[in-house]
Amino acid sequence: MEKKSYDMIPRKTQRIETKHRRIVTDIPVPESAPIVERLRKYEPRSMSGQPLVIWDRAENYNVYDKFGNKWIDFSSGVLVTNAGHCNPDVQKAALDMISHGLMHNYCFPSEIRSLFVEALVENTPDYLEKCFLLTTGGESTECAIKLMRTWGVNHSEGKTRRKIITFENDFHGRTMGAQMAGGSPGGKAWIVNHDPDMHTVPFPNRFLYDWADENRADYSDEKCFAEWKKYLDAVAKPDQIAGFMPETFQGGWVQLMPKGFVKLLRKFCDDNGILLCFDEVQAGAGRSGKFFAYQHYDVKADLVCCGKGISSSLPLSCVLGRAEIMDQYGPNEMTSTHTGNPVSCACALANLKYILSHDLVARAAKLESICRDRLTEMQKKYPQIGFVSGVGLAWALVFTKPGTKETDNDFAHDVVRNSVERGLLFFAPVGSGATVKVTPPLTIDEDALIEGLDVLDEAIAEAVKGN
Ligand SMILES: Cc1ncc(COP(=O)(O)O)c(C=O)c1O
Repeated sequence: MEKKSYDMIPRKTQRIETKHRRIVTDIPVPESAPIVERLRKYEPRSMSGQPLVIWDRAENYNVYDKFGNKWIDFSSGVLVTNAGHCNPDVQKAALDMISHGLMHNYCFPSEIRSLFVEALVENTPDYLEKCFLLTTGGESTECAIKLMRTWGVNHSEGKTRRKIITFENDFHGRTMGAQMAGGSPGGKAWIVNHDPDMHTVPFPNRFLYDWADENRADYSDEKCFAEWKKYLDAVAKPDQIAGFMPETFQGGWVQLMPKGFVKLLRKFCDDNGILLCFDEVQAGAGRSGKFFAYQHYDVKADLVCCGKGISSSLPLSCVLGRAEIMDQYGPNEMTSTHTGNPVSCACALANLKYILSHDLVARAAKLESICRDRLTEMQKKYPQIGFVSGVGLAWALVFTKPGTKETDNDFAHDVVRNSVERGLLFFAPVGSGATVKVTPPLTIDEDALIEGLDVLDEAIAEAVKGN
């Protein structure tokens, strides 16, 4: 069935003026129609999925259009602006670098790149010794796959250790390798000729409980691992596996894996010479209440993929890892045209300093309880909320048809639309299309977070009425 979309059909709004929000037009704004039409004409349909808020400028946790409206942003522009939109330090760093006169330098050495990789490596666990900069999250996961497989092939007799194991429903990006590693069969159907040495196995939480059920099955970590291992054994022997790459928390419903399971996975990797790479593109840079979300598991990583919040702004991603893994390729064999763009590096360095000096990691951990309490309270009130889950400042509400486990995309769509009409911005529902994510900048004021959650409550109530 065709999903509801965000159409250019203005709806009447109640005018709103608070400290944090302002809505003074119908939404979408009738005058914005030419902009939307131009985009629809010149861009592929795939670009038309978001609510029709025409971003003009954004500051900290607010997004503004040029028609006088102002939203509290619960999207962080898809979990990018951890240090806030246009963070003044990040903005200044970009402007300084541009006016200094360096906007590109390929892989030639630059001081700013040296300063950023040093700062990142020195402020992350000591076994992450080197950092390779790229542009998008998908490039970082592709690169991690390459590094793990190269390592496996070169560390096995007969080059037989080549399997890459990822997890059902994980997301790693939309380029070919990243999508092949991804855990949604629909997303990778187009690839047709799948790499026979890339496999997805169930996400372990599946063995702990059926997410729409109230009652968790009574599974110990060992039992969970043993059940999961049956699926792994069906596709790979330990000495064929080069590496595992889980999404540290599964973004589609913000689920961390059970800590005990990950510890057993780490031990399995250590016992069998397998690498473990965490995809932290979404979960990292403080979002979960730890700098890297895998630190919730108390294990070491061999490789870590970062993106999004690592700069809070311009496109930058990276792979971090042990030197012996990162150094497998010779000079000019693992590079990219935009590796460590100087303006992006300047932004990322300012962003990192800001996150650390303002302790945004602790702030995400502190604000977690506000989200947890309020969202679980809403779940009790609305039978349409089938599931609530989250950590730090990443929360997911999965909407279902009351009394069933069937996800309700239309309802989720309406909740987002109703919120946007009230000055609260979400990106379009994700996962199966029924998950609304609460992911504000980590810099959000407490009262703005609470106001946003109040608005979400109103938006759900309105959707229940069928509006
Ligand atoms: C966990 C994860 N990995 C990789 C990616 C891909 O990042 P990008 O869209 O920058 O390629 C994303 C993007 O949402 C992500 O959430």
